[in-house]
Amino acid sequence: MTEINHRRADHPIHSIFLERWSPRAFTGEAVSEEELLALFEAARWAPSASNLQPWRFVYARRGTEHFAKLLSTLDEGNQRWAKNASALVIILSRTHRVTSTGEIRPAYTHAFDTGAAWFALALQTQLAGWHAHAMAGVDRERAIEVLGVPEHYRVEAAVAIGRIADPSTLPDDLRAREKPSQRKPIGEFVFEGDFKGE
Ligand SMILES: Cc1cc2nc3c(=O)[nH]c(=O)nc-3n(C[C@H](O)[C@H](O)[C@H](O)COP(=O)(O)O)c2cc1C
Repeated sequence: MTEINHRRADHPIHSIFLERWSPRAFTGEAVSEEELLALFEAARWAPSASNLQPWRFVYARRGTEHFAKLLSTLDEGNQRWAKNASALVIILSRTHRVTSTGEIRPAYTHAFDTGAAWFALALQTQLAGWHAHAMAGVDRERAIEVLGVPEHYRVEAAVAIGRIADPSTLPDDLRAREKPSQRKPIGEFVFEGDFKGE
């Protein structure tokens, strides 16, 4: 069965799923606006409940005035390495929808749908020769303030996008963790007929 990045699939799948991983060592080289927009284009075509498309992306390219602002919304542990990304992205989702009668109601699947969009972006990033690394370590209140996020949006996560660099460029503790991770066996999370987990 397919083995890539020391990851072995037990069933036949496309190689992209094993190739994609989340490095922290980035070269810091420039990414063009066009290259970035192509990544968001992939996210655009993600499926969502009622086609509400609740995802929102705020990005900053390295070398622009926006980069330091987005970097400042990340936890210190993430800033240490994400500062070398070519672009940073804050992913938000619209938590509410407007019904046909004009009522504002919670959108039950806003996070689920936005997760689908993030993964479309992650796969397209990999296909384009870059890497994407998601981060939950974000100061959400700060992000809301500095990005000017209105009501009814949730800050979901941040993403660092960059060209992978040699692990030797990382501080010692991060270098030791710089390798593609493994996964639980399918039997631990896939059940036929009824729920068998704890
Ligand atoms: C929603 C989400 C939040 C994450 N938060 C962080 C984070 O704050 N810092 C970090 O270094 N990695 C973070 N990661 C990366 C995960 O640790 C990583 O995706 C996971 O270990 C699987 O490894 P892989 O992406 O290399 O396959 C996050 C990933 C996701 C999807």
